[in-house]
Amino acid sequence: MRALEAVERKIEQFIESLDDKEVIAIIKKIPAGKRLRAKLMLEIAGDGILVIKAAAIIEMIHAASLLHDDVIDEALMRRGVASINALYGNKSAIMIGDILYSKAFYELVDLDKEIAKIISNAVVLLSIGERKDVVLSQSFNVNEALYKQMLYEKTGALIEAAAWSAAILAKKNPKIFKDYGRKLGIAFQMIDDILDIISDSKTLGKPAFNDFKEGKTTLPYIYLYNALEKDEKKYLQSLHKKSLNKKEQEWILQKMKEYGIVEKAKKEALTLINEAIALMKEAGEKNLEAIAYEMVNRSF
Ligand code: IPE
Ligand code: IPE
Ligand code: MG
Ligand code: MG
Ligand code: MG
Repeated sequence: MRALEAVERKIEQFIESLDDKEVIAIIKKIPAGKRLRAKLMLEIAGDGILVIKAAAIIEMIHAASLLHDDVIDEALMRRGVASINALYGNKSAIMIGDILYSKAFYELVDLDKEIAKIISNAVVLLSIGERKDVVLSQSFNVNEALYKQMLYEKTGALIEAAAWSAAILAKKNPKIFKDYGRKLGIAFQMIDDILDIISDSKTLGKPAFNDFKEGKTTLPYIYLYNALEKDEKKYLQSLHKKSLNKKEQEWILQKMKEYGIVEKAKKEALTLINEAIALMKEAGEKNLEAIAYEMVNRSF
């Protein structure tokens, strides 16, 4: 996709214009990732220069959020290689994240004020969501509504902002694309939480089975807890925040299988995707179906 290459070049340009050789060298070591947010924007709005710029900004913001997220989640792998915190320590990872965020905002003010507000507000929500994730993980949370609100904030908001701002740039109906992006974003994080359980680190390019260890009772764990017998509930709770051995992991996976938990969680994500696709059909945007499926039918 030529337009995606243009986004890569724009990111490079933004990074090259930073006034520090060491920082530039470190940032250049970060692999690109799937670039799903950029792809989504290009699909909605085409490859005009403002779209390319906005997509580059969103991807830099996303990368910054991952640098901070890996410090928070104590994750030593990202995008298939050692994470920045693993390579340079938490202090550097936080500051490189700050540099990426700030550079993205510096470039964002050159765009339309409405778009600058939408995107910067999404970062406020993302940060509120990431903090909420940390707070919720301090105890064994089984409140589904709290979990879902946090999930919208930490991941849904930026994907919503990507679709919404792309629609504004393309002079399309902003409301429909905003709703579409929100649904995609929430489904996207639900799938991420499922992949943490059913996949492995090599496929994911980041640590697998890390959420529960970090105290995160994601949707599958909430569903599992609700399905379990009384004694089993207690046992699951006793594993919370522990570094699980093979036997304990097997028990969780076996119980999830027994109660059809992963299917139930996948179904919930798919329902959102189908709602998002229905919105696009209504808007006569059939081409936005494929990327919606790509966001959920993925192995990493
Ligand atoms: C990872 O996002 C963080 C979440 C919001 C789940 P991606 O899965 O889009 O990560 P990259 O950019 O492809 O590495
Ligand atoms: C992070 O969620 C979402 C962000 C806003 C960065 P996760 O902690 O589940 O993301 P991964 O699994 O590390 O990519
Ligand atoms: Mg993480
Ligand atoms: Mg996290
Ligand atoms: Mg995750």
